[in-house]
Amino acid sequence: MTDTTIEPDEATRLRNRVVNELCADGTISTPAIEAAMRKVPRHAFIPDTPLDMAYATYAAVITKTDEDGVHLSSVSAPQIQAMMLEQAHVLPGLRVLEIGSGGLNAAYLAELVGEDGEVVTVDIDPAVTDRASRLLEAHGYGKVRVVTADAAEPIAGLSEVDVVMVTVGAWDIAPAWTAQLKQDGRLVVPLRMRGLTRSVAFTQVMGENGTYLQSESARICGFVPMQGSTAHREELLLVNGTPEIGLKFDDGLPADLHRLDNAVTTPRHELWTGVTVRPQELIDTLQMAMAISLPGFCTMAVDKILDTGLVAPVNKRFALAAVEGDTFAYLVTRRTEDHKHLEYGVHALGPHATQLADQMTDVLRDWETNRRGGPSPIIRVYPAGTSDDHIPADRIIDKVHSRISLSWPTT
Ligand SMILES: C[S@@+](CC[C@H](N)C(=O)[O-])C[C@H]1O[C@@H](n2cnc3c(N)ncnc32)[C@H](O)[C@@H]1O
Repeated sequence: MTDTTIEPDEATRLRNRVVNELCADGTISTPAIEAAMRKVPRHAFIPDTPLDMAYATYAAVITKTDEDGVHLSSVSAPQIQAMMLEQAHVLPGLRVLEIGSGGLNAAYLAELVGEDGEVVTVDIDPAVTDRASRLLEAHGYGKVRVVTADAAEPIAGLSEVDVVMVTVGAWDIAPAWTAQLKQDGRLVVPLRMRGLTRSVAFTQVMGENGTYLQSESARICGFVPMQGSTAHREELLLVNGTPEIGLKFDDGLPADLHRLDNAVTTPRHELWTGVTVRPQELIDTLQMAMAISLPGFCTMAVDKILDTGLVAPVNKRFALAAVEGDTFAYLVTRRTEDHKHLEYGVHALGPHATQLADQMTDVLRDWETNRRGGPSPIIRVYPAGTSDDHIPADRIIDKVHSRISLSWPTT
């Protein structure tokens, strides 16, 4: 580890503190990534941001928001940048395509590929590329090629790359990314599946029926959404027709939108399951188990101002939920008596509340017995049109350009 006892200035001190923290929590394990993150002056790529915000280990800095309050551009949290760099395995001499610019991550990539490598960074927003070009030039990374384009489309004049690193939230895998990738290359992308985003490191596999992508690692993350030709928004089902309770579906709404209209007129069925977790326990596999097993899986958000208490999720902005015909249900937690654990429960509303609550509880119990603490599902990406019998899957998610399969690893 680099000697951090000499602290020439406040920014360096804060940067070293962030990197120390990321080495200690296991996010950084590669010396070259540690060195790059100690060297590149993060704060210089987020001008006008107070130093303490620029050097907050687990917080992004938002740099652009649209008129509806949707974040469009940001400089990701140091923890997310380090995590994705670890997933990307960028070595000296490689050619890397970064999608979503800003300058900072491109500077890390430039450090990692060295003199003999090449970094191309692409952003759809000319204001972002202007700023990224200026900052990269000013801080000694003028060799990075900055392009303004919709990166879901092929980039003109780009030779095949070793790594495609997407730093914006994708709903689909654009065919251009794999077309521009060498056969043994690696694609790292924050991919949204049934409303859950994972930063996935994919490699290409030659199968009997053609090439597909297979995940090597998948980590929980959050990202600003992709714009341009592959932009995709979740669709909202307003329970009872009012904006108080919104159920968000990532792959199309249920067929009959009015079947839930009377769900909130029946008393709320509440069930505690006895399934407990530690407060800091990572529940990545629980989220995936719900998304894989429940056909009507969705997420629920409650409008804070319009909230009348019809539903009571712990997190009003994001609760795991499911719809089955005329009934919906969502997961809740409460502290156990000893205050050391959280117990899961289910709230269900509608004529079939008991059945749906039991179904969710079964998924919870199955997760506790078979998946808790184990590996995440393997994620595979096949071209759209691939037939089901060529796709091993516990669940297939259809996108526009691809079919994504989630499969629990067999032990
Ligand atoms: C999280 S920011 C990228 C952060 C950047 N890598 C850094 O080092 O700070 C995501 C960026 O993706 C860009 N973006 C969104 N859709 C895009 C698309 N289709 N093609 C290229 N860039 C896109 C946005 O304009 C935004 O600036």
